[in-house]
Amino acid sequence: MNPTPYDQIGGDDGVRALVDRFYGHMDTLPAAKEVRAMHPKNLDSSIEKLYEFLSGWLGGPQLYMQKRGHPRLRRRHMPFSINTEGARQWMMCMERALADADLSEPTRAMLLQRFEQVANFMRNQPDERPA
Ligand code: HEM
Repeated sequence: MNPTPYDQIGGDDGVRALVDRFYGHMDTLPAAKEVRAMHPKNLDSSIEKLYEFLSGWLGGPQLYMQKRGHPRLRRRHMPFSINTEGARQWMMCMERALADADLSEPTRAMLLQRFEQVANFMRNQPDERPA
């Protein structure tokens, strides 16, 4: 059987490490400050939820679903104003987190593309246009 991305990233420990790096970047990169500001001051619950979600999304145990039900991601993001810039900032953090993961190049590129699709799908605000 082909290994899933979950296996390739190192299972539970690998997913945890990816999410820790992702939110670490969001918490420290000045270029991600708008997306950081949408999140609670304490990131512990955000880290936990993304970890649970990505575990299933990458092909491992469906932790989020078991604990919290269907993710309905787009609906859960509606309280936040997400435009192209917000999606770009989120992706910048994930791209950096993936760059440090122990993944084969084709798997990393595939995941980057899949993350990008989801991030684009989360957009719920028109982009600002110059007057
Ligand atoms: C496009 C830019 C995105 C922005 C600005 C954004 C922002 C946020 C914010 C502010 C929260 C609430 C955090 C909390 O409740 O602690 C959240 C929750 C969440 N996000 Fe995102 N997000 C984005 C994209 C994504 C993507 C691409 C994924 C998955 C691949 C994702 C997965 C999640 C999950 C699983 C939750 C927890 C949902 C819940 O149970 O309430 N997000 N996001």
